[in-house]
Amino acid sequence: MANHIESDNTLPGRAESYWIATTPKSNYPPLSGDTRVDVVILGGGIVGITSAFLLKQAGVSVAVIEADRIVEGATGYTTAKITSQHNLIYNRLISELGRGKAKQYAESNQAAIERIEYIVRSWDISCDFAIKPSYVYAGSEDSAQMILNEVRAARSLGLSASFEDNLPLPFEAYGAVRFNHQAQFHPRKYLCALAREIQGDSSYIFEKTRALGIEGGDPVFVKTDKGTVRAENVIQATHFPIVDKPGELFKKLHQSMSYVLGVRIEEPFPEGMFINAESPSRSLRSQPADGGELVLVVGDGHPTGNGVPTKEHYRHLEEWARSIYTVRSIDNHWSTQDVMSNDGVPLMGRITPDSEHSYVATGFNKWGMTAGTAAAMIITDTILGRDNPWTEVYDPSRSKTVEPFPIREEASRLALGEGAIIEMGGKKVAAYKDPQGTLYTLDPSCRHMGCFVSWNDAEKTWDCPCHGSRYNVRGEVIQSPAVYGLLEKKVKD
Ligand SMILES: Cc1cc2nc3c(=O)[nH]c(=O)nc-3n(C[C@H](O)[C@H](O)[C@H](O)COP(=O)(O)OP(=O)(O)OC[C@H]3O[C@@H](n4cnc5c(N)ncnc54)[C@H](O)[C@@H]3O)c2cc1C
Ligand code: FES
Repeated sequence: MANHIESDNTLPGRAESYWIATTPKSNYPPLSGDTRVDVVILGGGIVGITSAFLLKQAGVSVAVIEADRIVEGATGYTTAKITSQHNLIYNRLISELGRGKAKQYAESNQAAIERIEYIVRSWDISCDFAIKPSYVYAGSEDSAQMILNEVRAARSLGLSASFEDNLPLPFEAYGAVRFNHQAQFHPRKYLCALAREIQGDSSYIFEKTRALGIEGGDPVFVKTDKGTVRAENVIQATHFPIVDKPGELFKKLHQSMSYVLGVRIEEPFPEGMFINAESPSRSLRSQPADGGELVLVVGDGHPTGNGVPTKEHYRHLEEWARSIYTVRSIDNHWSTQDVMSNDGVPLMGRITPDSEHSYVATGFNKWGMTAGTAAAMIITDTILGRDNPWTEVYDPSRSKTVEPFPIREEASRLALGEGAIIEMGGKKVAAYKDPQGTLYTLDPSCRHMGCFVSWNDAEKTWDCPCHGSRYNVRGEVIQSPAVYGLLEKKVKD
């Protein structure tokens, strides 16, 4: 993932994720031929690595199949707040799903914080883990009542929530919900330490190995580009599920981008993690770093591939950061997308009631540090035949589907370093002209289900508006659900 971001010197700071830039690269071998384990896990992000770790601890043999390098997908580009405070959600969950399911959501996410803390302390993992309060603040008077409702709802579910009207932020806010005993960490330091516990004793991590499909059911056979893995159970932890049937989960999901700046400021950053209640989102946390504290300024989320020039989103964040703090420097910028579920609740567990050995975890709505950990806990319990009190609220078979996002296209001639869907020789092509003037032409049909991709000018990628597959300028897959790259399209201008 990391290397798909092309440097763009019109944007502030280096084009890199702070988490990836400050940790060694992993180097696990690819699968070589066929192998057999108890549980095969597709994807090495927070869900895949945590699931493999918990299962291995329980004496189960596992194989993590990672298309690229572990913890370089969404988890390598996150903000890494570990919180059960998922914006303003509890008041809505109580009214839409009832108190029982809302409580399952609250308890599972709070338990995930505690599980991460337990693992960090028991395995003595040095990962900048720190307990902090978390705040959702009202940036406008209109949101103030929602804050009060949320405090009441969260408290009624047993969460440690309170109203705060005196925020340590350098601008006016209209009250906030404060959650105690929340946390933050360096996600790669944590997960790469967990990965080291997975490898060995008949358990494996295979990198540079792409899963292409799942066959059978009891046992399952995962076909990859390097061989086949046979197992009793399979977990799809590929962020967006790569298998469309059974379940047709793609109808319940879409993807949304967000942007991050790593900023040095003159002012001391207050104790806590902060996010506004409104749109566009504005989120802040600090991170201990060489040369002092880095402040992560995050936000400007939007559906993937919506055609708006992506560079603008970084500019909005930069303007906001400079309007509230004395900015000394902007060290890095990065962005990624997360899978969003249409009802705002992740999908985790058995894909359908009948798929006894096939599990999935997705749709974290930008809160995958706790939700991804909770998913690993729920799926591990189910595989081990242990009761888990939170399965119902996350049942992937529940109804509700979404319409795909509208596709836009732009017929224009290309400047150096630009891409667009254009007409050439009477055909639509995804065309990119590199800084030297070489033209790359690809079939714009996404290899997942055929939607047209659109150009992302900040990352220089082709992004699919339907379910969020992303490709680099050569058409190679960088984010699922697609497993095959865009096809080359030879055309005459
Ligand atoms: C900008 C931003 C900020 C965020 N901030 C926070 C936050 O502060 N707190 C929070 O809780 N959440 C946050 N999130 C959400 C969180 O980062 C994600 O929900 C979480 O990282 C998703 O983890 P994952 O394991 O599902 O996916 P990933 O980390 O993407 O892992 C999936 C892995 O599967 C691999 N893969 C894909 N297809 C295949 C295949 N066919 N074969 C093999 N491997 C495959 C990928 O290469 C990847 O490594 C944020 C999200 C964004 C976009
Ligand atoms: S991601 Fe599904 S059609 Fe492109």
